[in-house]
Formats: sequence, C-alpha cells, structure tokens
Amino acid sequence: MMTGKGRLLGIGVGPGDPELITLKALRLLRTAPVIGHFVARAKAEKGQGGNAFGIIEAHLQPEQVRLPLVYPVTTEKLDPPQTYEGIISDFYDGCAVHIAGHLDAGRDVAVICEGDPFFFGSYMYLHDRLAGRYEAEVVPGVCSMLGCASVLGTPLVYRNQSLSVLSGVLPEEELEQRLALAEAAVVMKLGRNFDKVRRVLRRLGLAERAHYVERATMAAQRILPLDEVDPMSSPYFSMIVVPGLKWSA
Ligand SMILES: C[S@@+](CC[C@H](N)C(=O)[O-])C[C@H]1O[C@@H](n2cnc3c(N)ncnc32)[C@H](O)[C@@H]1O
Repeated sequence: MMTGKGRLLGIGVGPGDPELITLKALRLLRTAPVIGHFVARAKAEKGQGGNAFGIIEAHLQPEQVRLPLVYPVTTEKLDPPQTYEGIISDFYDGCAVHIAGHLDAGRDVAVICEGDPFFFGSYMYLHDRLAGRYEAEVVPGVCSMLGCASVLGTPLVYRNQSLSVLSGVLPEEELEQRLALAEAAVVMKLGRNFDKVRRVLRRLGLAERAHYVERATMAAQRILPLDEVDPMSSPYFSMIVVPGLKWSA
C-alpha cells in the first residue's frame, strides 16, 4: 500500500537479553527514522530511556529521532476526580497525535516494546488508535513468560494441559479461583502484589511447585525460592511460574 505516509511499526525486542531480538526487529529498528519508546517519568527525568530502549540502544544511529513516550503516572495515589484510567487514556491519545504527525510527514515510526507488543504491551493502545488510519506492522518478540521458563529450566505445559496467564493485580479472591482451576500458570505484574499472590499459592498448596524469577534474561536476573522473596523488594519485572505437572513420554 503506497500512501506517502509513514508506517507504524510495533517492534517486540524480547525479555531483556539483547541477543533475544529477531532479525526482522533488528532490520526495522536500524532503518526506522523515528524510534518511539515508553519510559517511566522517574527514569526519563534521569535521562534514561526505559527497559526496552536499553535493549536496543546500541543498534541506533545518531540521526534516528528518539521519541520518548513518558508515562504520566505509574502507581502513585491520585486525587479525585483523577483516575488512572482517565490519565492513561489521555496520555495514549497524546502519544497517538504525536506519532501521527511523523506518519503524516512520511516517516516510519518504530515503537519498541519489551517482550511481545501484543502480549500486555503498551504498544497495543497506540495500535488501537492508529492502525485503522495508517499502515501498521507488528513484529513479534520473545515474551517474558517464555524467557522466564527458559531461565528456570522448567517446561511450561505438557501434552493437553492448559496454561493460565494471570495478572497479579487481580483481587485476591479472583486470583484464588483462577489458580485453583489452573493446570499450569504464570502470574505477571507482581511488584507490590507479590505477597498477595504468595498467600494464595500457599493456601492452594501450589507454593512448592511455583518458581519466582525477576528480570529474566537480563544482567540483573534473580531466581529465588518463593519463601525467600522480600515482598517489599519484588520488582515490577518479576513473575511466578507454576509449570504443568511433568508428563513422561
Ligand atoms: C506490561 S507486561 C509486558 C509484557 C511483555 N510485553 C511481554 O511480552 O512479556 C509487564 C510484565 O511482564 C513481566 N515481565 C516482563 N519482562 C520480564 C522479565 N524480563 N522477567 C520477568 N518478568 C518480566 C512482569 O510480570 C511484568 O510485570
């Protein structure tokens, strides 16, 4: 489709190890004139580019435009009538307008995403806003749960088992109901939710089967027994993996 407009590119850059990038992601990243990257405000204020940016920064050329997309909020308390949903929706609207400016001028914009863009990636909210109006291409990345399984050395699902992918943000009761039914599970978005998730796993008798990993495949990776995790220091980039029961072929 030749439109004279730029293309929106959602680029998965994998879970952290810079070697876990696809050849296609690398090719597009090296040639895109604009690189969009999400970053927390605290990091942006220190001149840092964010997790995904750190993975690919070494491949960029000075002439490529860096477009930081700075989250206005993360987990701080908000005064009513402000809501997280309202603020973040306005933020994505603003990002989409900014990116559309580059696309209208004929410049491709590659928005990088840690792991895979369509697997809980912030890129999805830009895609939803822009893909109807501009050509969009998504390059899948190695998602974090597979990065975690690989560094843990635990096969995730055997044969006909189902895998539940859960968010640690879910209310405790709902988490318990879902985990009680799971044959294998990953629980993402731990951080300050860690203690709640561990409590549920203990109640269900799943704690012995569960593995905890933070910053999988990154230089600062840590794998800890569930009992040894300090709930106050569990980072956002952490996950609990409950592998399916081994099936001997
Ligand atoms: C917004 S989701 C992004 C997922 C990402 N798009 C993917 O494909 O994996 C963020 C969550 O992914 C998990 N995560 C991402 N990278 C991780 C890593 N390297 N190690 C452990 N967990 C990770 C954490 O649970 C974190 O809270």
